[in-house]
Amino acid sequence: MLVARDLWKSYGAKAAVSGVTLEAKAGEIVGLLGPNGAGKSTTVGMICGLTRPDRGEIAIDGVPMGEDASPAKRRVGFVPQDISLFEDLSAQRKLELFGALYGQKGEGLASRIAAALALVGLSDRAKDKPASFSGGMKRRLNIACALVHDPDVLVLDEPTVGVDPQSRNAIFDNLETLRDRGKALVYTTHYMEEAERLCDRVNRPPAQGLTWTRSPPSFARTSSSISPIAAR
Ligand SMILES: Nc1ncnc2c1ncn2[C@@H]1O[C@H](COP(=O)(O)OP(=O)(O)OP(=O)(O)O)[C@@H](O)[C@H]1O
Ligand SMILES: [Mg+2]
Repeated sequence: MLVARDLWKSYGAKAAVSGVTLEAKAGEIVGLLGPNGAGKSTTVGMICGLTRPDRGEIAIDGVPMGEDASPAKRRVGFVPQDISLFEDLSAQRKLELFGALYGQKGEGLASRIAAALALVGLSDRAKDKPASFSGGMKRRLNIACALVHDPDVLVLDEPTVGVDPQSRNAIFDNLETLRDRGKALVYTTHYMEEAERLCDRVNRPPAQGLTWTRSPPSFARTSSSISPIAAR
């Protein structure tokens, strides 16, 4: 589904991303693991078509990622790291706005909003403003916002920061449901244990030019013995 190959991005003389490669298939959650400043947000910005890479290729089912309203970009939903805008609109209105940005309207949009709210457990809060939500509820609403245009690929940038374990588990359940429905997910995190719990495969942005990947059963058992698959 999603293929990102050899992505590079610098800001001035500073290299933010140096040769990240990752792939996410339908029905798979792929982790992007790394500490502060490792280049995770820059990488997902490129994957979503928000930041142009200096070098490298990104495609969804072979269609190259472009800017503005490119077909590949429309197939990606993005849950940003920062809790987002429009706190003063009701959850329903906020979702309508996100749907409208993707040209959604009418019955189709209404049913997608209802489905997205149900998935994240906020159906009974549709009329309330996010300003009155807990941190975990705001995070879940952000996920719903990324789903109203029914993307095939969902990219999440540290979506559980600041939420309690119960809300975190609720978010994980939501993401596993989406995976089981055939979405391809890219999940960015600082935490190895989150990646182990949730992800089918994990990539680390390269430190000294290494890209890391492994498959789930052995990854979950022995995270200390991760081995490099690509060295530059
Ligand atoms: N717009 C920008 N202008 C200049 N430098 C930037 C910009 N965005 C990111 N950087 C730099 O690129 C590097 C990678 O940043 P990025 O935000 O991608 O890391 P991250 O892994 O998401 O970190 P965090 O875990 O703190 O969110 C950092 O050194 C950062 O200062
Ligand atoms: Mg970040």
